[in-house]
Amino acid sequence: MCGIFAYLNYLTPKSRQEVLDLLVTGLKRLEYRGYDSTGVAIDSLDNKDIIMVKRTGKVKVLEDAIQEHFSGDDYSEPVLNHVGIAHTRWATHGVPCERNSHPQRSDDGNSFVVVHNGIITNYNDVKTFLAKKGYEFESDTDTEVFAKLVHHLWKKHPNYSFRELVEQAIQQVEGAFAIAVKSKHFPGECVASRRSSPLLVAIKTRTRLAGDHIPILYGKDDKKQSSDQDADSGKAVVLPRSDSTAEFMPLEEKEVEYFFASDASAVIEHTNRVIYLEDDDVAAVRDGTLSIHRLKKSLDDPHAREITTLKMEIQQIMKGNYDYFMQKEIFEQPESVVNTMRGRVRFDGTTIVLGGIKDYIPEIKRCRRLMLIGCGTSYHSAVATRQLLEELTELPVMVELASDFLDRNTPIFRDDVCFFISQSGETADTLMALRYCKQRGALIVGITNTVGSSICRESHCGVHINAGPEIGVASTKAYTSQFISLVMFALVMSEDRLSLQQRRLEILQALSKLADQIREVLKLDSKVQELAKDLYQHKSLLIMGRGYNFATCLEGALKVKELTYMHSEGIMAGELKHGPLALVDDSMPVLMIVLRDPVYVKCMNALQQVTSRKGCPVIICEEGDEETKAFSSRHLEIPRTVDCLQGILTVIPMQLLSYHIAVLRGCDVDCPRNLAKSVTVE
Ligand code: M6R
Repeated sequence: MCGIFAYLNYLTPKSRQEVLDLLVTGLKRLEYRGYDSTGVAIDSLDNKDIIMVKRTGKVKVLEDAIQEHFSGDDYSEPVLNHVGIAHTRWATHGVPCERNSHPQRSDDGNSFVVVHNGIITNYNDVKTFLAKKGYEFESDTDTEVFAKLVHHLWKKHPNYSFRELVEQAIQQVEGAFAIAVKSKHFPGECVASRRSSPLLVAIKTRTRLAGDHIPILYGKDDKKQSSDQDADSGKAVVLPRSDSTAEFMPLEEKEVEYFFASDASAVIEHTNRVIYLEDDDVAAVRDGTLSIHRLKKSLDDPHAREITTLKMEIQQIMKGNYDYFMQKEIFEQPESVVNTMRGRVRFDGTTIVLGGIKDYIPEIKRCRRLMLIGCGTSYHSAVATRQLLEELTELPVMVELASDFLDRNTPIFRDDVCFFISQSGETADTLMALRYCKQRGALIVGITNTVGSSICRESHCGVHINAGPEIGVASTKAYTSQFISLVMFALVMSEDRLSLQQRRLEILQALSKLADQIREVLKLDSKVQELAKDLYQHKSLLIMGRGYNFATCLEGALKVKELTYMHSEGIMAGELKHGPLALVDDSMPVLMIVLRDPVYVKCMNALQQVTSRKGCPVIICEEGDEETKAFSSRHLEIPRTVDCLQGILTVIPMQLLSYHIAVLRGCDVDCPRNLAKSVTVE
């Protein structure tokens, strides 16, 4: 998904070379989001022009191009006030190429340059309007219309401030966007805004800020609107004029640096003070002062945007001794699962406190049904815990893929409780489903890994999974932490059920051993690597299981597909005879999960069906289970745990296997082709 990074220094001398270095580093931090091209824009040496460098491919390619383009002493001259904007693009409109890369510009003279994440859905209408005004388009992007629209407004309203121009423009566009705009007519200023795509402003000062929030300035409700009549079409493009009279936010001290970024990983090495922008906020920096503006005040608007102090450390987003972020994240799971439970589960008793939802528990207990909604891996965490939730809450539990849920216009009622599970907290389908359920009066519970994300902010209550930053596109530690968060919720819901106390105790004891057991499973790494050598040249891998382990089959197959580009399918073992068994022969790679739980006999039955068709499955079984191991020469043994937590231990060999196959096949482990970490478009 596209990534935005912009940097502004004010009375903090920085050379253009330093600004470029900052921009490139910012883009590197956003690489994990997935992208196909990159670009930057800074001021020319005489400040009269804007220079852009854009490239298809990796940030490294851009970095080399920048080095070639900007050299010489002049670029190391410090400047007191400067704005640079940068972008990683994930193509939505127009193929990846330099012409379609961002920044996109308003005209030959680079008056306004824009970086954008999201999709402007009415870009064709705006384009037609602007074409009639004489604008010629040079890219296939939706973004270019925004740059040209700002330019058009500037020509029409020469007295407008930069912020007002952007404010006018965002009212003309529909869809999802986060944008940052730079202009040669407003040197040293930057304006940014968002609607449905994430964007934050980070602030770095030598001295304390005047407060821990930025007041929001509101434009007067528009009484005097200027309109830009398109005579030919008869269609009026209405431009409501904002008339804010409020002062900009005062800072104690003027030396300041601002960063605009799609997420916190790009700014954390500079500052931990950030403001998450809300939809339709327009953030503008002028003379080193940040203001956040909204055109209209709505009833539930707070008066200010809070400055959040990030707890994330730079080390958390660096690879350390690992080759890939994904590998690091797999191996972090003994710690990340503990972090998910920290301060919530008391192993010396039976109490679990989920601070973010505790006040809502009585309401949740009275609900008609629980709905768990997510995409991809997050959806699988719902599949993995559904059975336990049904058992411990004694409520009907529906598990839904967000996209399908929306397609069906699923009926939702006021007494439904809807859980939205998302690592990033920004997945467009999940966010849309959340808004759909919220409008219908359901209670919204967010299960996210990203503080300040849209899903976080738009939920009534929630559980932060505390897995730490997940950079690899393939979700690993977020899955196990989502899983545990939902298990903890089930335990909270059953706290006062006498008949369930024994079961709760058994689960709590198993949770206390989980980190050590994950460490045990991780020791299988070299064995899994050997297995990967057997499998990586095959075209397909079938993964079979049932009951509590069906989710591992789905998740394992998703990991194999996204990382290795091999075909893989998670098969419910109970369905084998209804079709998939026809795929099995002596050459089809099969992996089967057969654990000593209530469905063991049925799994053994499936195993026999596979081996009697000459299948030679890899078996994931419990340590020392000789009877099961006898069915194949290839097995991975995992420690015994309670049935409902098995999925956490069985998924780890699948994460390792997909990782090793991807390495052997020469795939880009952290950024698989065509995929993005945070899917902020539907
Ligand atoms: O950020 P989210 O958890 O909402 O993302 C949902 C899916 O896009 C994500 O889990 C995806 O399936 C993973 N890349 C799979 O590894």
